[in-house]
Amino acid sequence: MDTSSRHEIFLVAPPGLEAPLYAEAVERGFAGARIGEGGVTVEGPWDEAWRANLELRGASRVLVRIASFRAMHLAQLDKRARKLAWSEVLRADRPVQVEATCRRSKIYHSGAAAQRIATAIREELGAPIAADAQVVVKARIEDDLVTISVDTSGEMLHKEAVNRAPMRETLAALFLRQAGYDGSGPVFDPMCGSGTFVIEAAEMAAGLKPGRDRRFAFEQLANFDAAAWAAMRTAGANGVPVARFYGSDRDPGAIRMSRANAERAGVADWTSFAEADIADIVPPEGAPGLVIVNPPYGARIGERGAVTPLYRTLGRSLARFSGWRVALITTEAGLARATGLPFAAPYPPVSHGGIRVSLFVTPPLK
Ligand SMILES: C[S@@+](CC[C@H](N)C(=O)[O-])C[C@H]1O[C@@H](n2cnc3c(N)ncnc32)[C@H](O)[C@@H]1O
Repeated sequence: MDTSSRHEIFLVAPPGLEAPLYAEAVERGFAGARIGEGGVTVEGPWDEAWRANLELRGASRVLVRIASFRAMHLAQLDKRARKLAWSEVLRADRPVQVEATCRRSKIYHSGAAAQRIATAIREELGAPIAADAQVVVKARIEDDLVTISVDTSGEMLHKEAVNRAPMRETLAALFLRQAGYDGSGPVFDPMCGSGTFVIEAAEMAAGLKPGRDRRFAFEQLANFDAAAWAAMRTAGANGVPVARFYGSDRDPGAIRMSRANAERAGVADWTSFAEADIADIVPPEGAPGLVIVNPPYGARIGERGAVTPLYRTLGRSLARFSGWRVALITTEAGLARATGLPFAAPYPPVSHGGIRVSLFVTPPLK
């Protein structure tokens, strides 16, 4: 395949966080960026999709569009799908799976559509079709327009997923960005749980590439160039951040987990974690920075009253953080208000594990 030809590359965002992902894509130099529903489209040759997987902290996956055509019925889909130059993208010796979605189209049966495309791939290219294949071809049929993409990210292997969950890192990175964090100052999370915000901020400050230790589905494609990928992955030196990154939590298990996660991510030298109740926290020494915290939400009906005192205590403790900005992720404006902190209007809500949460940010505290 002509790997230099330009393609539309779709960066999937957690719903509601398309804008900060767009900002990240522009900052990282991706061409033609525009915001769409559920993500950001950029343009470039295939290796830009590799780079998106390697460098973008906020993209949950990266799709490359390989074809787009009209189809009014399944026989037409079948015919067009058989004509695609599958061998330029897929390998005959690697299993493939096909997923399809249909909206406002004459073809309305997504299972049948996926099956036609899978059959075309099996019969024309010779690649085996398997439900658990790492390589996933996605067909989106909207208003009778079929768009076919390849998912270049794939699932994380089990071992990697245990280390750090991808979705949470993506969200944490985008919330940090939305809160105005640019990688230059200290960050403190006083309810740090497994340490996601603290570790993510330290990685941003050190310029560590988020995909540096991962395997990706694009390694299974016909146009993969192992030497070029190795060069891209190892290019550029990591920095040593000037700032430090702090987490505390009242749960000793959370502190142990945070330390282990920081060690694994290679940021242990710049992070520190301590066991502390929210009532007892004090600002770390040195210049002020950003406090970012997602306290328990009290998500179920009737629990809100139970967590309100915690938000009051958080607010009282953070009143000691003169010069720091505070970013709070929670479900309700009422809980943010209970802190007594001077939050501006929240950002649009984002779905976090099925719960709608919003980011609230203060100016530097007096
Ligand atoms: C929603 S979790 C935060 C998850 C975290 N952002 C992460 O990345 O894992 C809330 C955390 O608040 C901690 N917590 C609850 N009450 C606390 C208190 N009074 N003082 C300190 N930590 C508290 C819990 O132990 C829990 O780890």
